[in-house]
Amino acid sequence: MRKTSGMLKGNYSIVALFSGDEESLYAFTSTSALVIGKGNGTYVVASDMTTISTYSSTYTRVDSNEVVKLSVNHGIQSFVDGVIIQKKYSIIDSMYKKSSFYTNKLLKNNVDFMISEIFEQPSIIDNILNKKKFDINISSILKSNSITIVACGSSYFASLIAREWFENISRVRVNVEISSEFRYRKNNFNRDDMLLFISQSGETVDTIEALNSINFLDNTLSIVNVRGSKITCYSKQSVYMDVGSEFSVAATKTFTAQLACLYRVVKLICDNKKQCDIGQNIGLSHKVSGMNGNIYDNIKGVIDNVIKYCTVHIPVISKFISQYDHLLYIGRGLGYGVALEGALKMKEVAYLHSEGIAIGELKHGTLALVDDKVIVVAIVPSDEFIHKNIINLHEIKARCGKVVVITDMCVYSKFQEFSNLDGFTFLKIPSIKGEFFPFSYSVVVQMLAYYVAKHRKIEVDRPRNLAKSITVE
Ligand code: AGP
Repeated sequence: MRKTSGMLKGNYSIVALFSGDEESLYAFTSTSALVIGKGNGTYVVASDMTTISTYSSTYTRVDSNEVVKLSVNHGIQSFVDGVIIQKKYSIIDSMYKKSSFYTNKLLKNNVDFMISEIFEQPSIIDNILNKKKFDINISSILKSNSITIVACGSSYFASLIAREWFENISRVRVNVEISSEFRYRKNNFNRDDMLLFISQSGETVDTIEALNSINFLDNTLSIVNVRGSKITCYSKQSVYMDVGSEFSVAATKTFTAQLACLYRVVKLICDNKKQCDIGQNIGLSHKVSGMNGNIYDNIKGVIDNVIKYCTVHIPVISKFISQYDHLLYIGRGLGYGVALEGALKMKEVAYLHSEGIAIGELKHGTLALVDDKVIVVAIVPSDEFIHKNIINLHEIKARCGKVVVITDMCVYSKFQEFSNLDGFTFLKIPSIKGEFFPFSYSVVVQMLAYYVAKHRKIEVDRPRNLAKSITVE
């Protein structure tokens, strides 16, 4: 076994069974993306915690220098260089147990995980924004000159949205980096620089390697969902989203949970600086805290209503969208990250070619693609960009592009006031306060992708070619 692992190159996790020795399993890994669960005379080997929780009560991780033997007679034995070592087992968080109960229920009733996870979001967002205890050492953030956020996929898009909050509200300079690029660059950080790692699974290899590439820094904070995951082992501080396992490959509830956690960090910075620019910089007028000291008292009610609205209106619009082969998602400011996330959801669950574009970038090339075969979905919230956005949408219409506008009643009336509505299709979702719109608009783009996928008869929870945790490069 040791000889074999010495010959292998790249990242791998292997479980082997030898003919003639059917009572033993051997496991080894180059990346530590291998966990062993133990419970009631049963051992389970898997690449992440969620899978083992049904069968085990405790778990341990397999290190990259280790070979593990699981056998009927000797239980579990771990070897380093041929010598048996003692391993510590930790208790599996009760969150995973609850999740597996819930999973079985959904499977029994034949409900897609994706839609049920979308429906969990009103409570999750409310809980993180208004109730969750946030024990982080804020002083390390306050002393840094800027924050660099590192993430992949949807977690990267959540970070782009958060950058707008950090810069506009708490006035902190923020860079956002894609993990798989960041890890190969020569980074010139110094000890006071703050790095934030965002990952639902906590096991994404690119983000882990990005974190390892700056391991000389003390100022690292990760925001993850899975307790005990690798990213939390490597970063100096961690915040857990605690939203239960997400079974659908497409991130939905973890995406808005990341947004809510990031917003809480922004709020913490504001509280500690005793300064907050909410409203002044992004054209809004409300105060940062609601009546009970909450960030947003009624956010659950608002997102619930958005879901109700979408459940009635999206099935129709999505049928229309599902007939197209090319889609552009466009947005500006906070809406840009939502557009990128909407396009990714459409690709991964509905297999529809879609691109997320900053509205202002259209003229720099992408507008050439627009004709009557392209559908454009625009994120047009009630923000300071309304008029600019309306003009840009007319430019698309003038090129025969079909435009679906995700907006609210207030913006819709402005549209009516200033322009001819022919050729636009509107989704007029319930209004939400100012800079919180990424929460409700994200739910809309998720539901749009879900229903387009259903029209296209795609198995939404397990899209082809993808995996939930990306533990290889
Ligand atoms: C989202 O729907 C995707 N499945 C994917 O982009 C995901 O967000 C990305 O792989 C990052 O994963 P992480 O948050 O677990 O690090």
